[in-house]
Amino acid sequence: MNILVIHGPNLHLLGKRQPEIYGHQTLEDINAALDRQAAASPHDVMLKIFQSNHEGEIVSVIGGHINWADGVLINPAAYTHTSIAIRDAISTVALPVIEIHLSNIYAREAFRHHSYISAVALGVIGGFGAQSYTLALEAMIQHLQAG
Ligand code: DQA
Repeated sequence: MNILVIHGPNLHLLGKRQPEIYGHQTLEDINAALDRQAAASPHDVMLKIFQSNHEGEIVSVIGGHINWADGVLINPAAYTHTSIAIRDAISTVALPVIEIHLSNIYAREAFRHHSYISAVALGVIGGFGAQSYTLALEAMIQHLQAG
């Protein structure tokens, strides 16, 4: 199973960025944990991992993997709350998508309470810090395995 992982804007600075909210783990730590989890899986899991600060690039990466990916894990970061373009890209590829957040967006500022992505996602995992990603990968593997 081929799983595309996308990290949105400002997530390249994890570890330095507001660690009281986002934790001390760097993006490299999170990616390494995902790679270990994929390698340890009894299923044949291939990951491609991207980070971008640019909305259009994220749209292109999603669309560009329509024939490769079986599922997508995405932390759209601030674009969660603004991007119809990323939502449309997800609807276009019609792949199962899990929306991820490190923080619990519903326990934060009101402008973070609305997600343009959730309605087109298979599910949403947030509030568990770096573990949100590993929980999401496990959920995606189980979903694809069942299908
Ligand atoms: C985030 C939550 C968003 O509101 C914020 O803009 C981010 C990160 C999270 O992972 O908790 O950049 O997606």
